[in-house]
Amino acid sequence: MDWLLSFAAEIKRVLKSTGSFVLDLGGAYRRGRPVRSLYNYRVLIRMCDEFGWNLAEEFFWFNPSKLPSPIEWVNKRKIRAKDAVNTVWWLSKTDFPKADITKVLVPYSERMKLLLQNSDKYYSPKKRPSGHDISSRFAEDKGGAIPPNLLQIPNTESNSQYLRCCQMVGIAGHPARFPEKLPEFFICFLTDVGDTVLDIFAGSNTTGAVAEALGRRWIAFEIDQFYLAASAFRFLNEAQEDIVKSLYSKLIAKGARKITVPQHIMQQYLLEQTSEYRISQE
Ligand SMILES: C[S@@+](CC[C@H](N)C(=O)[O-])C[C@H]1O[C@@H](n2cnc3c(N)ncnc32)[C@H](O)[C@@H]1O
Repeated sequence: MDWLLSFAAEIKRVLKSTGSFVLDLGGAYRRGRPVRSLYNYRVLIRMCDEFGWNLAEEFFWFNPSKLPSPIEWVNKRKIRAKDAVNTVWWLSKTDFPKADITKVLVPYSERMKLLLQNSDKYYSPKKRPSGHDISSRFAEDKGGAIPPNLLQIPNTESNSQYLRCCQMVGIAGHPARFPEKLPEFFICFLTDVGDTVLDIFAGSNTTGAVAEALGRRWIAFEIDQFYLAASAFRFLNEAQEDIVKSLYSKLIAKGARKITVPQHIMQQYLLEQTSEYRISQE
């Protein structure tokens, strides 16, 4: 916790006053016990109490494709449910960070679609006991529904350019990649085109690739240069991917079964192929 929190002050220092810090933390069991660690909640409380962050809203990322784990408590002893939800803390410096939920509307439910088509039949304007004023404007098509703070996003990517290229050069993809939809939601919701998105633990740089596709500027920090070098695969265009492919085919033709490219050669190669891509040595 102390390690993670040591980043909190620095993030606050560089973030714009209207900016947001989104922190995805998977849950964990305490070592050897079927009892949950409270670290993700403690991190949140300490970030707010000690570092002055505001919890703009808590989100939950539900990954329906997550495999049951931990094996001991879920599969073997069958005394716990599978852990398929990460906490995602949306933190801000002020009470009003830049945010626009209309940029991340979700498709209407089938019921709402029927209502929009035939509003007279399905409802009459009145004030509900909850205080919601269900006026005639309720039946206006606003392009989608307000999403909940439960984000259902499967993590099932298996044929991306990144994974194809990793396979070609004989390396495993990053083991803890986000599905693109996760950073996409927060980038669309909390930033505008031209804004800067920083991922301090970028891994395979899913965040940077999504930011790039959405017209945002991005910065990625990653301590493992091997992950960083491989993340350049996300930015190859088709012709560059073909170069990687032909390089691989030539080596296979020469009898190679698995190609392991030394890190420095791979970095050099990727730098040459992606002139826009820079790896800082600092
Ligand atoms: C959970 S992974 C992030 C994966 C990423 N979301 C993706 O989609 O590929 C966390 C990453 O943080 C990196 N990391 C750990 N400590 C770091 C540090 N002090 N500075 C930068 N990166 C760090 C790890 O090497 C790891 O790749």
